[in-house]
Amino acid sequence: MTYIKKASSHFEKLLESSLKRLEYIKSQGDFVDYSKLDSIKIGVCDGDGIGPTIMASAKAVLNFLLKEEIYSNKVKIKNIEGFTIENRARCNNTLPDYVLEDIKSCNVILKGPTTTPRLGDSYPMLESANVALRKELDLFANVRPVKIKEKNIDWVFFRENTEGAYTFGSCGVNVSDELAVDFTITTNLGSYRIAKLAFEYAKKTGRKKVSIITKANIIKKTDGKFLNICKEVAKEYKNIDVDDWYVDIAAAKLVDEQSSKDFSVLILPNLYGDILTDEAAQIQGGVGTAGSANIGKKYAMFEAIHGSAPKMVQAGLCSYANPTSILRAVVFMLNHIGLLSSAKKLEQTLDICTDLNSKIKVTGFKDGATTKEFTEYVLDTLQKINIS
Ligand code: IPM
Ligand code: MG
Repeated sequence: MTYIKKASSHFEKLLESSLKRLEYIKSQGDFVDYSKLDSIKIGVCDGDGIGPTIMASAKAVLNFLLKEEIYSNKVKIKNIEGFTIENRARCNNTLPDYVLEDIKSCNVILKGPTTTPRLGDSYPMLESANVALRKELDLFANVRPVKIKEKNIDWVFFRENTEGAYTFGSCGVNVSDELAVDFTITTNLGSYRIAKLAFEYAKKTGRKKVSIITKANIIKKTDGKFLNICKEVAKEYKNIDVDDWYVDIAAAKLVDEQSSKDFSVLILPNLYGDILTDEAAQIQGGVGTAGSANIGKKYAMFEAIHGSAPKMVQAGLCSYANPTSILRAVVFMLNHIGLLSSAKKLEQTLDICTDLNSKIKVTGFKDGATTKEFTEYVLDTLQKINIS
């Protein structure tokens, strides 16, 4: 029975750290008011694989759009070095201290995709840098919009980003050779703050419907709590319709033409949010097309929805990577820090440049435009556009 004791003591430590984390969340202040800052510091991390290629595109667009703000020091852009898989492996640390310090000296981060070591490759089995950063900066809301005009689809996903199966994703135990256990957690406060953000967003943007997605019929305690808390929050918003779905049928309804247009704002625990947002992005045209915001009270991080695409790199297709997703993330970031007209300009530019009839298309293959060619097209369109 010593192995049960060992597993129990491991579990005990996780519970203690969860309660400590809750205290930290409770002690936090309100959201940063960017309009009150003299200067906003944007940290840019290139990331791994296709990261440097698409981030070069994002940086060129940022430097163009924010020329004046950068000149007047209203915005500062800082390159964060050392956030690469090679360096993380060398330091044997997902978030080397000096890198984290640099990141924390910024207000918001624009981040290229980072590689997570997989079983069988040469890197130490480090935790996903993405997940570690979300936890470390307490970026509790992962907001991912998907819009398809022709299908009347206009979804915004609010994925809880710090709890669920992810909190202890790297902390499971092999109780014995034959038995493995992972842990998933839900807290009142964690569920409340994501629900509140989603409902406030619906209210502010005049959306009429919020759907809560769980598997509370099976995962009764944690998903059950998530669902109950979301329903409690819903009571504060009498003018918004609320329904709830189990994640399996929700996944089916997203591809059903009749039902898909009825979804608007969706709230999901972490893992279901991860899965359904990839599905949704694919419906929109591929995971290369959607942007992703990770919002916390003090920090926020913006990124592409896709990974570092090692297969593309291996096939020598790096320079054909689609930067649309990271550019959509730039739109998000500009909106978040209050640079609304620049955000609108870029959003409308991207709508033009990714239109089905556009002359220049990135396909991720040699039959399409290169990242550089597409970026030049974006910059050229930005120069000409008058926002409506
Ligand atoms: C995402 C990604 C990440 C996740 C990976 C890269 C850790 O899939 O942002 O959706 O699982 O959250
Ligand atoms: Mg994902």
